[in-house]
Amino acid sequence: MRIVLLGAPGAGKGTQAKKLIDKYGIPQISTGDILRQNVAEGTPLGKEAKSYMDKGELVPDRVVLGLVEDRLKKDDCKKGYILDGFPRNTAQAEALDKILALLSMSLTGALSVDVPKDDLMKRLTGRRTCKGCGQMYNVYFSPSKNESVCDKCGGALFHRDDDKEETIKRRLDVYDAQTAPLIDYYKKSGILKSVTGVGSIDEIFSKVCNALGVK
Ligand code: AP5
Ligand code: MG
Repeated sequence: MRIVLLGAPGAGKGTQAKKLIDKYGIPQISTGDILRQNVAEGTPLGKEAKSYMDKGELVPDRVVLGLVEDRLKKDDCKKGYILDGFPRNTAQAEALDKILALLSMSLTGALSVDVPKDDLMKRLTGRRTCKGCGQMYNVYFSPSKNESVCDKCGGALFHRDDDKEETIKRRLDVYDAQTAPLIDYYKKSGILKSVTGVGSIDEIFSKVCNALGVK
């Protein structure tokens, strides 16, 4: 399985990717997670990325493309991969096609997770993530037992810096303008699948597996 997960901020890309990892043992490549790790470590790349992420803007392509190419060359990607949050615009999608052609590991699918806009704001303002294991919670829909502690590993939960209402609005606009056109891009290349991302996480996961043609 070599796939791209498409969907607006808060659509559940990360949530569904984690379930795919648990079931199929293939790595998730989330450019957002890689960038946030760089921000947390205070690397020069992280410092540059933070100024864009805090505004809800895309980080420049030259920064992101190098990160993805390096990650795809790692051994664990030979058995497949889930690209989450990448590509984000047409230039990134075209660059990805070229990288994958050189590595002889072209995409087997692009899956769009569709959620109405009205649901996204609450999902994002309510999101909490574990610093230790990355498990996601939501104070409205799927809270942890203790408000600030992860049920799975006991790690501390944090609220993403870009999950503030004003930044979320900008991220949604950026998605409409720059990322949504990729739905057509992958439709034209014949590998697009879509699922509705509303309902329980497990219900959506079974739709995801059906759409991808895996059991
Ligand atoms: P990124 O980290 O990719 O964020 P995003 O695309 O905005 O998406 P999210 O991670 O917010 O949402 P998600 O779809 O993963 O939802 P989740 O599963 O967490 O990017 C962040 C920033 O980094 C960008 O703004 C940009 O600056 C930069 N960046 C990243 N990649 C880049 C690139 N390629 N190029 C340039 N810049 C880049 O779920 C959300 C919440 O909803 C959770 O609380 C979850 O528990 C809950 N939830 C999930 N499913 C359900 C359900 N079925 N019902 C109810 N609640 C649910
Ligand atoms: Mg995510």
